[in-house]
Amino acid sequence: PESFEVIDQRFLPHEFKWFSAASLEETAIAIKDMVVRGAPLIGATAACGMAVVAHHISTNNYKDELQQAFKTLSATRPTAVNLQWALTKQYDIVKQSQTLSECQNNLYKNALKIMEEDVKQCKQIGQYGLEIIKSIYQRKKTTVNILTHCNAGWLACVDWGTATSPMYQAQLEGIPIHIWVDETRPRNQGAKLTAWELGQQGIDHTIIVDNTGGHLMQHGMVDLVIVGSDRTTRTGDVANKIGTYLKALAAFDNNIPFYAALPMSTIDWEISDGLREIPIETRSEDEIKIIDGFANNTWTQSLICPQNSKAINYGFDVTPSKFITGIITEKGVCEASEKGLLKLYPEMSNV
Ligand code: MRU
Repeated sequence: PESFEVIDQRFLPHEFKWFSAASLEETAIAIKDMVVRGAPLIGATAACGMAVVAHHISTNNYKDELQQAFKTLSATRPTAVNLQWALTKQYDIVKQSQTLSECQNNLYKNALKIMEEDVKQCKQIGQYGLEIIKSIYQRKKTTVNILTHCNAGWLACVDWGTATSPMYQAQLEGIPIHIWVDETRPRNQGAKLTAWELGQQGIDHTIIVDNTGGHLMQHGMVDLVIVGSDRTTRTGDVANKIGTYLKALAAFDNNIPFYAALPMSTIDWEISDGLREIPIETRSEDEIKIIDGFANNTWTQSLICPQNSKAINYGFDVTPSKFITGIITEKGVCEASEKGLLKLYPEMSNV
């Protein structure tokens, strides 16, 4: 393919625009500047980028150029392991190819496969997660209140989403649900993206500031928490958007089930200790100090703190497995532990 197009999430919810990437540089910008974000989508975008880069190569040393593309894209964002997962798959194709045209064809086909599998897996996550929502509904018989953090919806994947997929399946089954949407400072993926996405799907939701969840839980207003993940260790520690850990602690204290929903591409089988081994992205302090808004058809920016104050912007945190009720994957729901994950993925026991 000459190029590929993605929804430019930087402009949502106020403007719906497409971003076209026709080169390595544009693919890297798309990931780094968060035109696209969300672990599965970052992986899918990188896979498409490799196919596009290959398409434009005409020289014999295509393997060197694609190795450079692999390295450049690998360095765009550090935490979501789906990026490395997708790039490694694409780079394996490069290494195995005999000719440029074979390489181009196979990179294209594999990018499509990665996207198709993501759709299928996210749908399956929804079907397994539905059972959890259903059992709460059968007991409660009124609206099930679900809290989520960041955006782990179809915007963050190719379709369905991870954390949102069980919500969409519940909606299809006619189960009444209401979603508490954490605004998710500093970039507000909850307020901007999840709220927009749920609105598009006609799902009842309420935006709350990040510090509200604990209060709601203490007052019986949350039945279930479902979040996504950017990297999950083989022992079930879950890295996700900053603030997820605090929600897990509050849920634990209030005996509220806390689930992480993720496809296999988010599991890093090579690591066991999330706190020590998962790289945590730090981003620009401007994301904390400057807030943007939309009025009279234009975007504005406002400084919300003293100009000279320092800020530090950790993008993710790690929730240790002991605070996680279960992990919902395309293979089923399991305990957040090595034993639990290996029951679903026995083929990974020797990795
Ligand atoms: O910084 P982001 O917006 O890429 O962070 C996204 C998240 O933390 C999501 O919850 C995670 O990637 C799961 S997406 C299905």
